[in-house]
Amino acid sequence: MEEENAVRVLVTGATGRLGRVALPRLRDEGHTVRAVSRRARSDAGVEWVAADLATGEGLAAAVDGVEAVLHLASSPDRRTHQIDVLGTRRLVLAAGHAGVGHLVYVSIVGVDRVPLGYYRHKLAAEQVVAAGQVPWSVLRATQFPEFLEELLRSASRLGPVLGDRAVLAQPVDPGEVAGRLAAMLAAGPTGRIEEFGGPEVLRYDEAVRAWRAARGSRRPLLPVRIPGRLGRELRAGGLTTTATPTGTRTWADHLADTYGGTGRR
Ligand SMILES: NC(=O)c1ccc[n+]([C@@H]2O[C@H](COP(=O)([O-])OP(=O)(O)OC[C@H]3O[C@@H](n4cnc5c(N)ncnc54)[C@H](OP(=O)(O)O)[C@@H]3O)[C@@H](O)[C@H]2O)c1
Repeated sequence: MEEENAVRVLVTGATGRLGRVALPRLRDEGHTVRAVSRRARSDAGVEWVAADLATGEGLAAAVDGVEAVLHLASSPDRRTHQIDVLGTRRLVLAAGHAGVGHLVYVSIVGVDRVPLGYYRHKLAAEQVVAAGQVPWSVLRATQFPEFLEELLRSASRLGPVLGDRAVLAQPVDPGEVAGRLAAMLAAGPTGRIEEFGGPEVLRYDEAVRAWRAARGSRRPLLPVRIPGRLGRELRAGGLTTTATPTGTRTWADHLADTYGGTGRR
């Protein structure tokens, strides 16, 4: 059913971790969704279009006839400047030509403080959005618990869990981020950057302890202090926010859902 303030929205990054939970959430809120992937796809309830931010191919057709764009696509590991920064510019230009009324960009808490290459690109992409002709809003979210788990898995490849125990994190459930994004689409452009984090700030060693307990693992934590400004920012809470409201689902909730009482590794 069409709700008040519902919009026709194009979602980039629709196949990603956030995109997959955002699509049903947007539909539940009454929005009409068109979804982008680089590959042709078909699923009931969503109109899929093929487009590539790296080349601009398909973007004009993708934005044609929508009122809003929710821009989630990103490429942290390869061609990040080409896809995140220049690709965002291509998208903003195409959306401007098509008369799109609102572009919502998803960024990360700390992109303006924490000296990581990926974050520099995300900050540059925020600036592209803010300088473009399409009215905009930005939501900076903290880390998804699945991302924190990937990090912990790779930190324990050699046996013990390596890491700086005083680094602070604030995992947030991607479903709750999607809910916030659906509300932002309904509210219209603000020209502002909002932040959204999880319900609790955890030290790395606390997060590791809970993760090990959930998986029935006895791997020890081997402290490795992250040097320089990066370490200082991470320990000072560069990845966390005091913004309210926050999500409600905790790291413990995520671990209980993922591992239950199985102790599965
Ligand atoms: N992960 C976190 O903890 C976290 C936290 C806060 C904010 N964020 C932000 O949230 C957003 C979504 O993150 P995620 O973890 O859901 O991402 P993800 O799972 O890595 O998915 C990336 C998406 O980007 C799309 N993509 C990549 N290259 C593309 C290209 N050249 N053209 C068009 N689409 C392209 C992919 O689509 P196809 O492969 O289908 O083409 C895919 O849907 C990102 O902007 C990220 O910075 C993430």
